[in-house]
Amino acid sequence: MSYEFYKIMHLLGLICLFFGFGGLLVAAYSGVTLKSNARVMSFATHGLGLLLLLVGGFGMLAKMGLMAQMPGWVYGKLAIWVLMGAGISVVKRKGYIGWPVAILLLGLGTTAAILAITKPF
Ligand code: HEM
Repeated sequence: MSYEFYKIMHLLGLICLFFGFGGLLVAAYSGVTLKSNARVMSFATHGLGLLLLLVGGFGMLAKMGLMAQMPGWVYGKLAIWVLMGAGISVVKRKGYIGWPVAILLLGLGTTAAILAITKPF
């Protein structure tokens, strides 16, 4: 598989992750109890997104020849990936407060993008 293949996989992962977060967060913020198939859609897209981000991320690293000695920004992204995994339970428990949770998640996603694009360390 090519670098471009893994990059598109990575970006699809990002889309799925925020699709899952968004569905659950908007429902919680409006006090709606989702039907079980809709909840499954949110949790499944969140989980699939995490998986695609990880596989696509490591796939790109391999294609870039960076697997042997991973730069510091990759560890930053891995930490954000773990936080994004925990984020779904924050949305479940605190999603009713709305904007602060949305801003936290969007801030984490933006930080992950900045780390990959600027590679500061
Ligand atoms: C939730 C977590 C993550 C988010 C939101 C995220 C987001 C992004 C974004 C927006 C880009 C820029 C794509 C572009 O250049 O067009 C990117 C690139 C990249 N990400 Fe991630 N990412 C995440 C996690 C990870 C993880 C866990 C890894 C490593 C295992 C990783 C490795 C990479 C690599 C290698 C690149 C390409 C850098 C380059 O082309 O120079 N990312 N990511």
